[in-house]
Amino acid sequence: MIVGGEPELALLLHIFPEGVEELDGAFAVYADEPPVGFDVVAVEDVRVGRVWVGPPWDEPPEDAVAVVIDPGRAFGTGAHATTRLCLELLQELEPTSLLDVGCGSGVLSVAAAKLGFAPVNAVDVDEVALETTRANAAVNAVSVEVGAELRPAALAVMNIALDVVEAMLPRLPVERAVTSGYLERDEPSVEGWQPIERRVRDGWAADLLELRP
Ligand SMILES: C[S@@+](CC[C@H](N)C(=O)[O-])C[C@H]1O[C@@H](n2cnc3c(N)ncnc32)[C@H](O)[C@@H]1O
Repeated sequence: MIVGGEPELALLLHIFPEGVEELDGAFAVYADEPPVGFDVVAVEDVRVGRVWVGPPWDEPPEDAVAVVIDPGRAFGTGAHATTRLCLELLQELEPTSLLDVGCGSGVLSVAAAKLGFAPVNAVDVDEVALETTRANAAVNAVSVEVGAELRPAALAVMNIALDVVEAMLPRLPVERAVTSGYLERDEPSVEGWQPIERRVRDGWAADLLELRP
């Protein structure tokens, strides 16, 4: 992972289409080679409740549900506030079938599978994200169905962006959803979907929503 100073997010996304995360006021980008002028920094382990997310070279705590994510190719080291908020809400729910929309690295799918959610179906528009999710599911020895098809499930998790959440929610074959990828001031507004619970962190928000026609 490579962190720069204060360049514009749009410019970074143009240069690093594989992903950019804003972390603690800096930008973390995914690239195969460190570009000139950027500093390489260590990836921090993340602990959210029972779940630990960290790179393969770190040792998870003995009491944790360990999710090993090799950082580098797709969004989702677990460190971003929105990923943490989704992890927080997921582990407070009864494990059911799960549809992970916008799986990125597969961090939420892998964590959910380890928490007992099954079957877990992961989708993304980005082929690199799908490949990365397959690889991370294998490394963590969990079963995740990875592909483009939106399979019916009891719950969806969707950490993307407000406009995508609002556009996709009516199309998802689910009745409950954990959504994030937007700021605390934003609230998804989709006909029939009601907010059940909200979590906020560092100005970001995540919601548990339920379909009540
Ligand atoms: C912010 S990342 C989330 C990654 C991971 N789920 C997490 O929580 O850390 C958003 C992901 O959504 C994917 N994405 C964007 N638009 C999408 C869409 N319309 N349908 C499915 N995936 C989408 C992106 O390719 C990216 O991998």
